[in-house]
Amino acid sequence: MTARQRRLKAHDRQLLRDQPMAEEQLTDYPVGWYFARFSEDLAPGQVVPVEFMSHQFALFRGQNGTVGMVDSQCCHMGADLGRCGTVAGDRLVCGYHAWEFNAAGRCTAIPKVQPARIPPRARQRAVPVLERAGNIWFWYGPEPTRELLDISCFDSPRYTNIKGQIHIGRSNPLPMFEHVADSYHFPHNHRAAGSLEYLVTANDGHRFEFQLQPTPGSKGVNVQRFFKPHAFIEMAGPCIAVYRAQKDGTINRTSPLLTVLIGVTPVRENVTVLAWRIAVRRIGPNIPFGPLNWLLARALWFVIAWNVHVDLEVLKWMRPPAKTLWVKPDGSSVREYRNFYHRNIIAGWRPGVQPVVDESEPQLEPQSGGSRD
Ligand code: FES
Ligand SMILES: [Fe+2]
Repeated sequence: MTARQRRLKAHDRQLLRDQPMAEEQLTDYPVGWYFARFSEDLAPGQVVPVEFMSHQFALFRGQNGTVGMVDSQCCHMGADLGRCGTVAGDRLVCGYHAWEFNAAGRCTAIPKVQPARIPPRARQRAVPVLERAGNIWFWYGPEPTRELLDISCFDSPRYTNIKGQIHIGRSNPLPMFEHVADSYHFPHNHRAAGSLEYLVTANDGHRFEFQLQPTPGSKGVNVQRFFKPHAFIEMAGPCIAVYRAQKDGTINRTSPLLTVLIGVTPVRENVTVLAWRIAVRRIGPNIPFGPLNWLLARALWFVIAWNVHVDLEVLKWMRPPAKTLWVKPDGSSVREYRNFYHRNIIAGWRPGVQPVVDESEPQLEPQSGGSRD
């Protein structure tokens, strides 16, 4: 790993600056998969300190490519694994006494202690992670109960997959993300020539999906600047949206020209990250269409970057009023999204359930003066 790869990203530094290390999670968040990091931003052998839902984690990638996300507070004496840890093989090594942990959080080696004598409590809470579409995702909730949506186009050779940007908002996920369903904001915020209507195609349990299309009689061709109006949006849980541009009102789930993957993740109270990336269908095979494929993907990248920018200038400062003042043009879309968000919350649930301790195993704790090996 090069020194450049080892360096933290600008958004890491901004998030870690003045980070309160023991802040309590105040808000209930929906269970589901959340964006953790762009895959490109975690090199083999790299470990970074990250914070989500007011909890500190060490996110690391083994030399074999395995990704792990474990509590950053070392179970031995509390060193911060995200800040002092290193990677050896596929394990995270604490920078203080060199205890080693695998991606499941299990302690696999303690210097001068035989493997059979490793105490059962020697483990870090590990958060389920998966890597798909060029992003690292983590699961928030009692146990992973559902798959991510089908976003296989991002991993297909028929598509150009480009990472977007990470934005930091001074708000919470609900006010920042309900905007994906807010059809009322398009004419003004995206400088659209016409208005949009919103048609729900599924809204039950963990599923929420809808179409955007021009309001009948709308004169505008583009209802987003530079952008055709039709889109199909699927929500993979309340904090991930898959936006598929559509030619017309017929839904094309599998091979639209442009797919945008957007995720919001709470860092702590009133600090939320929003990340996006795109997949653009290639005009033809890279030989001989490579330059054209690249140009098309880059052009669409700038279109999305512009639209996200105008949104974020508003969303990152959202402070919802105690009671929303609804008007008729709001329609039902935002309220439907809010219902979807709230029904995925397990009230009062918090991560950090301690692993079960097998009391029959030997413990180091009661002894004084060194290890028993
Ligand atoms: S504090 Fe981590 S190994 Fe000692
Ligand atoms: Fe928007």
